[in-house]
Amino acid sequence: MGQDLKWKINTMPKTDDRNLPLMSESEVRKARTFHQSFPQYSITPLADLNAMAEHLGIGRLAVKDESYRFGLNAFKVLGGSYAMARYIAEETGKDISNLPYHTLISDELRKEFGQATFFSATDGNHGRGVAWAANKMRQKAVIYMPKGSTQTRLNNILAEGATATIETVNYDECVRMAAAAASKTPHGVVVQDTAWEGYEKIPAWIMQGYGTMANEADEQLGERPTHVFVQAGVGSLAGAVVGYFTNKYKENPPTMVVVEADVAACLYQGAMANDGNIRIVDGDMDTIMAGLACGEPNITSWDILKNHAACFIVAKDPIAARGMRMLAAPARGDIPVISGESGAAPFGALVTIMTDEGCRELRDALKLDKDSRVLLFSTEGDTDPERYKNIVWEGKER
Ligand SMILES: Cc1ncc(COP(=O)(O)O)c(C=O)c1O
Repeated sequence: MGQDLKWKINTMPKTDDRNLPLMSESEVRKARTFHQSFPQYSITPLADLNAMAEHLGIGRLAVKDESYRFGLNAFKVLGGSYAMARYIAEETGKDISNLPYHTLISDELRKEFGQATFFSATDGNHGRGVAWAANKMRQKAVIYMPKGSTQTRLNNILAEGATATIETVNYDECVRMAAAAASKTPHGVVVQDTAWEGYEKIPAWIMQGYGTMANEADEQLGERPTHVFVQAGVGSLAGAVVGYFTNKYKENPPTMVVVEADVAACLYQGAMANDGNIRIVDGDMDTIMAGLACGEPNITSWDILKNHAACFIVAKDPIAARGMRMLAAPARGDIPVISGESGAAPFGALVTIMTDEGCRELRDALKLDKDSRVLLFSTEGDTDPERYKNIVWEGKER
């Protein structure tokens, strides 16, 4: 499996790091307080896989299980919901701390703010989160999905009362479609989980929303992780997690590793180019890791990753599939984690690094050994149940 994994140690030039404060503890605290105001809120479990840690030759392995998030099977709703609330707060001249869930759904706010239409493009999870939050907050949502999106994912979004369609173009094109449609709609707002030149405020709120997950995991861990592995599509999540742990452990940050799908390896390509500039990957990006199939990096996040990620890894589909299977059927004594394709990619990568002789150089470079305390995020459960069964139960490739 070593041939299914490539890596680049980060040697890019550093910048003035102006985006790091976005993920300060106090900013993340605001997001977490907001999420806690939802009746559906509960802390998702952190699975301590002791037997697996021993099997892999590391000291501790903790997997944050986002399949429990708000009943939505993925972490993504944390970002969309927080950004939508921040937008409403700004429009009504309020502080987000004065806009908890029960105020957001009140008739008074309805009178004051009216109804916005939130537009977004999605592989599935972000759009479902936006649709869910719009539904809960009595707003409207319109969602565009790239070609290849499954009917199940579309149905999940439609079930939240949103307007949603599967288009004939890829994810990045869908982002442009959402932006164009919003600009033609009265009170139309793009709530997209990636930043580009001139569109940075809402994605920064989305990243802060993801901070809730990092903050919970940090608290549950009860000690500084030595290593954090995080998966990336556009890199908003990775920037949020890397930013959070860099701020939290300023003097001695964990070694942070970013994992992408090989067909959508825009961050890795940037790291390979080594000049600090963004690289874009185009094409169909056909991978089972639907959530990671994005070829244009978030510019805000890229800056954080350039300064603080230790290594960029790209993984082929069999690595994610192996991660899914091993989390579902753990070592004796550990609990199983239902982890989908994008969720299991970092675990699959870690297993490969620790067990494949071809990865010894990387293992040594990252100093992964019996003293390592590794934190991973399983960012989704079986969000595509058919495919999950095919891979985990039937042993198929997809
Ligand atoms: C389950 C899952 N994990 C990870 C990611 C990657 O997040 P980002 O696009 O912010 O890099 C996504 C994105 O949709 C996702 O759905």
